[in-house]
Amino acid sequence: MAGIYIHIPFCRQKCYYCDFYKTVNTSLKNRFLSVLSEEANVRKNYLQNEPVETIYFGGGTPSVLEIKEIDKILKMLGGHFEISKDAEITFEANPDDLSVEYLSGIRQTGVNRLSIGIQAFQDTHLKKMNRRHDAAQAVEVVENAARLGFDNLGVDLIYGLPNLTKNEWKESLKQVFQLPVQHLSAYHLTYHEGTAFYTWLKKGTLKELSETESVDQFNMLVNEAEKAGFEQYEISNFARDEKYSKHNTAYWFGKKYLGLGPSAHSFDLKSRRWNVSHIESYIKGIENKTACFEEEQLSEKDRFNEHILTRIRTQWGVSLTLVKEQFGAELENYLLSQCAKYIQTGNIQLSQSTLKLSKNALFISDKIMADLMII
Ligand SMILES: C[S@@+](CC[C@H](N)C(=O)[O-])C[C@H]1O[C@@H](n2cnc3c(N)ncnc32)[C@H](O)[C@@H]1O
Ligand code: SF4
Repeated sequence: MAGIYIHIPFCRQKCYYCDFYKTVNTSLKNRFLSVLSEEANVRKNYLQNEPVETIYFGGGTPSVLEIKEIDKILKMLGGHFEISKDAEITFEANPDDLSVEYLSGIRQTGVNRLSIGIQAFQDTHLKKMNRRHDAAQAVEVVENAARLGFDNLGVDLIYGLPNLTKNEWKESLKQVFQLPVQHLSAYHLTYHEGTAFYTWLKKGTLKELSETESVDQFNMLVNEAEKAGFEQYEISNFARDEKYSKHNTAYWFGKKYLGLGPSAHSFDLKSRRWNVSHIESYIKGIENKTACFEEEQLSEKDRFNEHILTRIRTQWGVSLTLVKEQFGAELENYLLSQCAKYIQTGNIQLSQSTLKLSKNALFISDKIMADLMII
């Protein structure tokens, strides 16, 4: 089983918090699309003929693409890879692009899962983030998508935003769980260097929420999701009716994936590769057949750390049997000794040879994970 990630590096405007690789200059779109096909052709053996079970259009903003361009990319991938008939094909989209016509067009292409970036349901916050849509529009597009037959719909929200009150966050959660969605990704705001939010934070024109407020919002998220029948299957991801993101779950389970496009990452079990985060260098690299990526061979220590880091974040946890099988008894014992204090305090639960973070430890998971890794 393998996955393909395609990075569409264009956005109509830049949100003030975001540091994903993107450009607002769409003049290179056509050249990018032909280079993308070329990259897929050059790298068609990367997945070693494993059936592709998931395809993920991420960005940037994939919904800057025209329907015929999405169609062409999918047909092109079908020509190079063995795509499973029931593959999950996810498409990240911004509400301001999702007219009824566009939504029904996407459905015709074979895309069967939408991930819609809503971020907040208060127009004041949306404006402060430099989003192009308002809350009413977000509600409308989700309802339209469901009416048009999308039955695997996800939305993204951000909490911990400056001045986001407890009541506003509760209102956003209430709103999202009333919508016909099966999936929610909710991320705490990160202030990334180079973004406008980061600059304003350093200047003092924007104030970070306190730790207590952030923890309260996280707890509210977990509780409201549970009440609404959503399973927290990873720290930031919730699904009902087991509509997990198969693509992201495959990342956490260490499956192979090929990443196409600038800044996209690939993994073939032994090494990781990441394309240059610069559209011109990416295009020139593929056109001139020069390397436009960096690669790292993974040592056993790297693989162990990644295994723990990704699985402990999920509801499936870390299986000690699997750790022993893959990394040997010595590393299994190392892991158990590193976990001992957390098992004692109840932050980690050990049951049926599986280690899981307990509910109250999810928000401090970064610190715990750092302690479990080999440095
Ligand atoms: C790279 S964006 C692409 C999606 C799409 N372009 C959009 O704007 O909705 C994927 C998701 O990452 C999250 N995200 C981006 N920057 C973030 C940040 N600084 N802190 C928390 N979440 C962030 C947002 O929820 C966003 O929907
Ligand atoms: S959040 Fe989405 S639309 Fe906004 S800048 Fe990032 S990728 Fe672009």
